[in-house]
Amino acid sequence: MATASSNTPALEIRNLEAWYGESHVLHGVDMVVQPGEVVTLLGRNGAGRTTTMRAIMGLTGARRGSVQINGVETIAMATHRIAHLGVGYCPEERGIFSSLSCEENLLLPPVLNTGRKGMSVEEIYAMFPNLAERRHSQGTRLSGGEQQMLAVARILRTGAQLLLLDEISEGLAPVIVQALARMITMLRERGYTVVMVEQNFRFAAPLADRFYVMEHGRIVERFGASELQEKMPVLNQLLGV
Ligand SMILES: Nc1ncnc2c1ncn2[C@@H]1O[C@H](COP(=O)(O)OP(=O)(O)OP(=O)(O)O)[C@@H](O)[C@H]1O
Ligand SMILES: [Mg+2]
Repeated sequence: MATASSNTPALEIRNLEAWYGESHVLHGVDMVVQPGEVVTLLGRNGAGRTTTMRAIMGLTGARRGSVQINGVETIAMATHRIAHLGVGYCPEERGIFSSLSCEENLLLPPVLNTGRKGMSVEEIYAMFPNLAERRHSQGTRLSGGEQQMLAVARILRTGAQLLLLDEISEGLAPVIVQALARMITMLRERGYTVVMVEQNFRFAAPLADRFYVMEHGRIVERFGASELQEKMPVLNQLLGV
């Protein structure tokens, strides 16, 4: 088995194909993310961004190709084993337990045996003061923004270092989206590796080190933050931003 060294990518995807039943959705995705990077996966509705995240986690139907996490091949692994490599997936639907309080939600996730300790509840509250204020509030009583922070906080509890975040800014008010942007900046400062799917280009643009654009289950553009200005015309064409 490969051992992770300082130049081993946190995530390396090669020629990834994925299916839902008979439906062939990913047609050879390539993506490399270095430890500590924040990478955004852009694309129109139905491009295959959520499917890419689900395929990384082993949550689609059949998948083929290569997905390495810290140098470990996971293409034949079950989802729970992939998670134990230190991958945290925050799906679009967030997965908060609405009948439990904020704090109960934070106490629920299993701690992964990744060698890196997950954040304690107190550390979470220091990082997300509004969750501390709402610790005894029931899941359903949290605002959309609070639920989104709680969904990410739960992942940080597990000790995951590679975070896959699907459309966290979706449907939230601008002031909340700003708070989420500060959260991403904080995660970067703490050394987390982040792959975010975003429709909200204005949210993602100032946060990401690099960008990938998907269309019809393939990566059609990739570029770094310094190339963003020159890429605007092509992004406009691909995404209508
Ligand atoms: N469970 C499923 N079964 C069959 N087809 C699916 C399933 N989920 C998604 N698809 C199809 O796969 C394609 C990619 O969907 P995906 O959810 O990955 O898109 P996306 O880029 O996340 O876009 P959005 O979130 O805006 O819908 C779409 O054509 C979609 O209809
Ligand atoms: Mg999606």
